[in-house]
Amino acid sequence: MLTRREALRQTALVVLGAAAARGLAQDTPATAEPFTLPPLPYATDALEPHIDARTMEIHHARHHGAYVANLNKAVLATPSLHGRSLEDMLRRLDTVPESVRTTVRNHGGGHYNHTLFWQMLAPRAGVPRSELAQALERAFGTLDAFREQFTAAALRLFGSGWTWLVWQEGRLRILNTANQDTPLAENAYPLLGVDVWEHAYYLKYQNRRADYVAAWWNVVHWDFVAERFAHRPV
Ligand SMILES: [Fe+2]
Repeated sequence: MLTRREALRQTALVVLGAAAARGLAQDTPATAEPFTLPPLPYATDALEPHIDARTMEIHHARHHGAYVANLNKAVLATPSLHGRSLEDMLRRLDTVPESVRTTVRNHGGGHYNHTLFWQMLAPRAGVPRSELAQALERAFGTLDAFREQFTAAALRLFGSGWTWLVWQEGRLRILNTANQDTPLAENAYPLLGVDVWEHAYYLKYQNRRADYVAAWWNVVHWDFVAERFAHRPV
């Protein structure tokens, strides 16, 4: 039985997810801006001291903003892409015209990954809810073992990219993607991801990715991850 507070929180998650999903679907074809930068679901300083406000401002407005602007430019210039959802384009990049394929892969991927990333963070981390916690224990042994393996994957990723917990081929897996490549391109459903581009942490942590990832665990929005897990594709 859900408490009223839990029910309210779940409703908020659904509303938030729907708002972000609208940013991944195009409005009517050939409008000036097919995709939009979703607002952060919290204040830029909400994740302090783990992720600083200045990093959040630049990361969201400038980096994510640039991915959206460049994706829009490519889509507007390519009539066959008008009306296609971002997920569909990223899942089937081979169907995107070669002239804009790299732009859609990099900037469309950037928009998709970051739209998820903001929602995967919250000022209070909480803990994995039971169904997800049990699945993590089955897949990795213990929750601590999962954290250790996920962190190790994030630290061994060379250059820029993402480390993900995904649902793929009926099981939980840890997956690294380079640059702004998405799990969708590998037929995987992202549940949780950490951005390990230097733009995500350099102002506060400089080259100390390990310190950033250790701090990032404190702001993982486990309720959101659990909701995605509950609604994973079968
Ligand atoms: Fe980023």
